[in-house]
Amino acid sequence: MENESWAVLVEPEGKVHVVEMTPGVRKIKGLGVFDPIETIGDTPYGSSVAVGQKNLTRMPPRLPELSKGMLRRAQTISAKDAGYFIARLGIGAGDRILEAGLGSAGLSMHIAHTLGQTGIHVTVEPRSEHAEVGLKNMLRAKQSWPVFPEHHHIEGAIEEVMDQVAEHVQAFDGIILDLPQHPSAIEAVAPMLAVGGRIACYCPVTSQVEAAWESCEAAGLEVEWAGELMERQWGKASKGGMRPVNGPFGHTAFLLIAQRTSAE
Ligand SMILES: C[S@@+](CC[C@H](N)C(=O)[O-])C[C@H]1O[C@@H](n2cnc3c(N)ncnc32)[C@H](O)[C@@H]1O
Repeated sequence: MENESWAVLVEPEGKVHVVEMTPGVRKIKGLGVFDPIETIGDTPYGSSVAVGQKNLTRMPPRLPELSKGMLRRAQTISAKDAGYFIARLGIGAGDRILEAGLGSAGLSMHIAHTLGQTGIHVTVEPRSEHAEVGLKNMLRAKQSWPVFPEHHHIEGAIEEVMDQVAEHVQAFDGIILDLPQHPSAIEAVAPMLAVGGRIACYCPVTSQVEAAWESCEAAGLEVEWAGELMERQWGKASKGGMRPVNGPFGHTAFLLIAQRTSAE
């Protein structure tokens, strides 16, 4: 733990702060002005750290903590949908995965965690202000975990950078698109999907999922599943028993999964 690059500090209500462990007094967003090395040092996991008025608990930099404490810019894909994509695409060690757009890297961190050190992860993002945030989150993960895949990031719209993508990988086991428009991207990436490989589209509105369905079929892919996942959290009721917690029963996106089932 002494050599950790990032410290995870958790507030009693669950808010997570990810602090870079470099020396020097400075302002750390949400926590105040302090030197992390002096204040956090090698505090063991599960022990308290006092920062100003706050009493925080140091925890290991696991995926859920790095996700909760991540820097955010674009809308992120959360564990509910990321986990489903990983399971439906069968993503695992050694796979070659293409992802567009990177955004804040909410999904990318889940994928990188699953790929292990033998996997190859190629991310694409046209907006440098989004990539800057996403790549910082990926760096935190890389410096915190014992293994990390070979990661290549390409700046540009996916439709325009497929030559650069092909310099790293010629055939992908999985492709995930979280974009405002899917059809042109599906047309561009489908030729690089290996036989047996799957493509997933994350579509916030129904018109997108319909367009993605048609584009996958036009590209010779077989649509395997489309739909949405609903998640409802439960908690302890004040007068005893368990019940769904109060709060919005929200929508994230419609998901579509298609497979390349033939070599033609
Ligand atoms: C909603 S964000 C992705 C969030 C990301 N999945 C996450 O979990 O943090 C969508 C991203 O797609 C990028 N984008 C838009 N058009 C694109 C294109 N043609 N190729 C690649 N990325 C694109 C946007 O700039 C934006 O950052």
